[in-house]
Amino acid sequence: MKDVNFKTVFNDIFIELQPLENKGVAASYIPELAKIDPDKLGIHLVHLDKGDFYQGDSQERFSIQSISKVFSLTLAMRIMGGKLWSRVGVEPSGTAFNSLIQLELENGIPRNPFINAGAIVICDVLMSYLSNPKVDLLNFIRKIANNPNLQYNKKVAESEKRTGDRNKALIYLMRDFGNIHNDVEDVLDLYFYLCSIEMNCCELAHSFMFLVTGGVDLASGEVIVTPGQAKRINAVMQLCGFYDEAGEFAFKVGLPGKSGVGGGIVALHPGKYAVAVWSPRLNRKGNSYMGMQVLELLTTKMQDSIF
Ligand code: DON
Repeated sequence: MKDVNFKTVFNDIFIELQPLENKGVAASYIPELAKIDPDKLGIHLVHLDKGDFYQGDSQERFSIQSISKVFSLTLAMRIMGGKLWSRVGVEPSGTAFNSLIQLELENGIPRNPFINAGAIVICDVLMSYLSNPKVDLLNFIRKIANNPNLQYNKKVAESEKRTGDRNKALIYLMRDFGNIHNDVEDVLDLYFYLCSIEMNCCELAHSFMFLVTGGVDLASGEVIVTPGQAKRINAVMQLCGFYDEAGEFAFKVGLPGKSGVGGGIVALHPGKYAVAVWSPRLNRKGNSYMGMQVLELLTTKMQDSIF
């Protein structure tokens, strides 16, 4: 990385993107998400040595949606270790996040833990091991984020529960193949609540720092996951974090990352920094249109990616 003045880089990016039309539409299949101002734009970067840098709507909380699947995967890996991979794969799907196509052909084993089917299986695993799944999962995320104030958004979770027919189709198909062990409604409930967690860009970037440090929580020094597990989570993010746009994200940005239909994207460079952006308008693949542009410009201007 050349010696970067992040504040100047952020300013330049915002100026450069201003005349660009913010294409895409905010997610509306979860009705609560359609109420958000689609033209918000925020960024927050935490650098291990250089500290915090931010711009725009970086302090406003939003629905992190599928980004929270990194936290549920982390907890499931801590609990089950390598046995987890008999329930879910680590291959990119090349299909949409809510697609049913591969599931039947592949006997109810989802390609990876970030497509909806995979994240639902992870929730099923957590249901089997946690005594109070919703509370225990939220407390784990609060611990990773060093933030006791994080919350589920009940309205968003209930809104998705009412409209989540695709996720219902996925879970029933997987149950038929024997890959769901708990009550279907309870597993979906945990899944919808997981997706409804809210953070702002600052909170999000900080909550991913344990994957920058090789598994260690910066504040407490506690080992969240082993360096080997951190490597694997980053690898799955690189290959599967953007569904059928994972190749495009690697090609343009060159960092492991994860998106959500709330318009958030987190990306990180192991050993260096984590960065979160938020812009609710999504492209056709369900990833933030402007978020992708911001991150492409960022790694280009910093001359820094993992490749
Ligand atoms: O299950 C769903 O469809 C949403 N709760 C999460 C999807 C999502 O965030 C996909 N990411 N881009």
